[in-house]
Amino acid sequence: MAFTPWYKDMVVYHIWPRSFCDGNGDGIGDLYGVLYRLDYIKSLGADAIWFSPLYPSPNADWGYDISNYMDIHPDFGDLTVFKRVLKEAHERGMRVFMDLVVNHTSDEHPWFLESRKSRDNPYHDYYHWRPAKRGRGGRLLPPNNWTSVFDGEAWEYDSNLDEYYLHLFAKKQPDLNMDNPKVRDEVKRILRFWLDMGVDGFREDVITFIAKTPGLPSAYPRIPVANGLRHYSNLPAAHSYLREFKRDVLSQYDCFVVGESPMTDADTALRYVTEGPNQVLDEMIAFSHMEADCLFVDTIPRPFSLPKLKKALSEWQYKLAGRGWNALYIENHDHPRIISRYGSEKYRTESGKMLAAMYMLLQGTPFIYQGQEIGMTNMPLPELGMYKDVMTFNSARILGKLLPQKKVLSIIQKGTRENARSPMQWDDGPNAGFTTGRPWFFVNGNYHEVNVRTEDQDPNSLLNFYRRLIAFRKTTPVVLRGDYRELYPRDKNFYVYERRYFDQRLLVVCSFSPELQRFNAPEDVRLDKWQLVLTNYETCFNIGNGFTARPYELRVYLYGEAAL
Ligand code: GLC
Ligand code: CA
Repeated sequence: MAFTPWYKDMVVYHIWPRSFCDGNGDGIGDLYGVLYRLDYIKSLGADAIWFSPLYPSPNADWGYDISNYMDIHPDFGDLTVFKRVLKEAHERGMRVFMDLVVNHTSDEHPWFLESRKSRDNPYHDYYHWRPAKRGRGGRLLPPNNWTSVFDGEAWEYDSNLDEYYLHLFAKKQPDLNMDNPKVRDEVKRILRFWLDMGVDGFREDVITFIAKTPGLPSAYPRIPVANGLRHYSNLPAAHSYLREFKRDVLSQYDCFVVGESPMTDADTALRYVTEGPNQVLDEMIAFSHMEADCLFVDTIPRPFSLPKLKKALSEWQYKLAGRGWNALYIENHDHPRIISRYGSEKYRTESGKMLAAMYMLLQGTPFIYQGQEIGMTNMPLPELGMYKDVMTFNSARILGKLLPQKKVLSIIQKGTRENARSPMQWDDGPNAGFTTGRPWFFVNGNYHEVNVRTEDQDPNSLLNFYRRLIAFRKTTPVVLRGDYRELYPRDKNFYVYERRYFDQRLLVVCSFSPELQRFNAPEDVRLDKWQLVLTNYETCFNIGNGFTARPYELRVYLYGEAAL
């Protein structure tokens, strides 16, 4: 059989280091804690770890504002302990991926500090500096009408230079000027630095934003958030810069690269991930399936729509089939917890299992975010002042202009990505076993029930279901290689799909309903001849060629044998 690259068969565990495990008692997760938990990560069946940024950073955006690309944040340890994590992960057969954030740096990065010293500083052109304009009465005006994703206008004035710099995210995250070949050389140096150390690849942060329309023109008609998007999202130059990184560096290593691409559809993604000479990324992190209950990347909650979810997932499955490979995920550090969104806290374990199988049995590489595997849920805080995230502040500010404070709070409680950033729940001891000190952020009060130790001991827990699911994936060819077909696309209660690989067939039936719902199998499937391989209820039987699904019931049926 044809050679399959290793990344297609792997399962990735994603760590947001600040909240994973504190090894030295200062209340902040760190690499000592990671070392201690490597066996746990391995016990899930993970083949790789992706670390959200570990680099020195003033933490305006918790590490996504980097002040040194070639070191480790002192909160997390140092290069020596990082190398030990790398070695010990490798010894356990797990690869390690770093987050590469090169759309922007921190405003405290030495390049930026130099760049703002004078207009003729050699680093000035590392960033997008533009002269201030003057309006009526000498009023200062930014160079164009773009707005940032996190912080009002996309421009910040510097009185010393009488210029503005561009920041698509927070003020403390100035955008790098990737058109400058010197900046691209710096990126290549960073890539080589980590690859030469033994790192196995990168998750590339907002990589579809790295090129901007020359001349940085204003954008009309104006949109309320991220105005200017079409002048910096998915420009042809972004592709050519990525091709250059691949040609000059990445192709010389056996490594994996996944790009993050907010507001990108599958057709656009194919420009980057289509296998062949123009491929620049192995996979792309899609967003559309994360928007089945919200608008503007979680900012505005809406009622959950199963048809919207199914349409998004199927679109990426169909379009990439035979051409590229999907990155599969339902949680990360940028989104609220999935059970609180697409599942049900009341049926936490049932819906958690259903959601796990729902996405992990699709075609692609599954990513699991810390705490997802034990079914951590959202953590609404009672006051806006208790939140710590720049994006959350921005949403609260924008919403506050339109709505009363109480309403703003309830929207934030549902939509904030901080729901995913509460400390990992290891046991039912103080601070959920995350730290012996004072945790940097609030621990979710449900940790007595929802924690690794309790679930580890319960064969029916969500945690042990994830382990079985991953083991099943790895040993079942139709899951790894089979094609995909959605059934009953218009059904409002069930998401049903079939995978096929030669004579092997897999039927995945997911009820998204909290009520009883009748399921009838398709005509060419005789359920009594198929084997029920995974489910989230103990006793299951068929009635006719179907069954009555209980709340959030999952049934996965397999037919036929096939060898890998
Ligand atoms: C990505 C990261 C997010 C960060 C943003 C700016 O979307 O995942 O956490 O805030 O980029 O770097
Ligand atoms: Ca610590």
